[in-house]
Amino acid sequence: MDEHYAGIINEISGSKQISLSQLEYILTNEVSSNDEYLFETARAVAAEYFDRQVYLRGLIEFTNYCKNDCYYCGIRCSNSNADRYRLSEEEILSCCDLGDRLGFKTFVLQGGEDPYFTDDILCRIIERIRSEHPSCAITLSIGEKSYESYKSFYEAGADRYLLRHETANEEHYNRLHPGAMSPENRKRCLYELKEIGFQVGCGIMVGSPYQTIRHIYDDLIFMQELKPHMIGIGPFIAHKDTPFKTEPDGDVRRTLLLLSVIRLLFPKVLLPATTALGTADVMGREKGILAGANVLMPNLSPVNVRGKYLLYDGKICTGEEAAECNMCLRRRVERIGYRVTDGRGDHPDFAS
Ligand code: 5AD
Ligand code: FES
Repeated sequence: MDEHYAGIINEISGSKQISLSQLEYILTNEVSSNDEYLFETARAVAAEYFDRQVYLRGLIEFTNYCKNDCYYCGIRCSNSNADRYRLSEEEILSCCDLGDRLGFKTFVLQGGEDPYFTDDILCRIIERIRSEHPSCAITLSIGEKSYESYKSFYEAGADRYLLRHETANEEHYNRLHPGAMSPENRKRCLYELKEIGFQVGCGIMVGSPYQTIRHIYDDLIFMQELKPHMIGIGPFIAHKDTPFKTEPDGDVRRTLLLLSVIRLLFPKVLLPATTALGTADVMGREKGILAGANVLMPNLSPVNVRGKYLLYDGKICTGEEAAECNMCLRRRVERIGYRVTDGRGDHPDFAS
């Protein structure tokens, strides 16, 4: 490890600011002992607030219908090879029951933007989860909606909302999405969600097509402005039935470096080691935790639909039961000297 590198890392950690040239330096450095110093520093920062604890969030992928057509995503509406499904209200509720038995304190309802699930239907589902699992957090990840819709979900009992901004740069955004979608609307959603009172998560894919270091820098600046409670990042992985099928996958090492940089800039943020990271590298999720991540999101969806919620190729855990992923992840966490905690895992500024 060289002194100059360590100096930069310590400066970022102390000031919680980063410049474009510092980011370039970190991402283009080729000395692996330098990477190691960054990971170690990020781990130490995470340990200050989270003490080597990892939170589990049970992910329920309740619909793979989507009206959007994002060029990177396997469930985009133009993909006629996608085998579409929706879980019924009862199926969603039984996923939560199972999750509760497995010890999860957060349920994440994730889906494509599916018009079948009207606000009324969603609110009823949220209300039922809230009354049947009063001590659990309910996280939604269902895309761009109006202020009124978000407000009704919040009033029905949802606590948190994940909506990756994907890229803060307008030109880059427009190369990843068709004209019907805009970065302004996405950012509007995030700010409104915060105003309503949700704990909010934004995020990006690392190595999405056309992404430059400058774009990533703009993403970090956007995050500093938004001040999200959660930040989701994972490598881009090509899906064979999308316009980006021949694009190279995102780099695991770069994803890990960015997890650490994010941990230094946002010491208290909830930061998952994502399934995409675990797909790109068999030890990706462990490496993510050792780079400063503190959340894992095991899949709670019924096995018969798992193989259908495919945003990218090669997704792991599509054949495992929820109970298997639960045990597997607990073991993996323990093996690297961390432990799964049974708290709800709110952002430290939100905890009551
Ligand atoms: N590779 C990696 N991540 C993807 N996502 C969508 N498609 C892909 C892909 N091909 C991510 C997006 C989205 C989140 C739910 O999954 O960032 O916001
Ligand atoms: Fe699903 Fe390991 S997390 S099998």
